[in-house]
Amino acid sequence: MIEWDDKFSVGISRIDDEHKQFIDIINKAIAIKEHHDNPEELKEVLHSITMYAITHFATEENYMIEFNYPEYQYHKEEHHDFSRKVIEYCERVADGDTQFANKILEYLKQWLVNHIQVTDRKYIDCFKRNGLK
Ligand SMILES: [Fe+2]
Repeated sequence: MIEWDDKFSVGISRIDDEHKQFIDIINKAIAIKEHHDNPEELKEVLHSITMYAITHFATEENYMIEFNYPEYQYHKEEHHDFSRKVIEYCERVADGDTQFANKILEYLKQWLVNHIQVTDRKYIDCFKRNGLK
């Protein structure tokens, strides 16, 4: 499970709220794997992670475009790489490889915690200068 910690905060309420929701969905996936290990439920929650990631990445990327963020391209590629991997992993689970789910969940956890604390931090100054709170 990932527990929200103040060290994850970027100090911009809309983005913090979305990151909290992102963490909630990943936790839901972890709980499903631990407690019921139901492939159908797992597939469903992985799909909702993919959908949520698309929505959330769009929020950040739209601000980057609007504010002319210089590291937009790099940041976008990190998002893209994540989405591509999650879709690929979902397909493996859909093909019946539910054992693989542990690896996916570990990847999701690590990626999000790392991305929030490293890559997302870099836009804080730019976003705040442009009026986000
Ligand atoms: Fe991001």
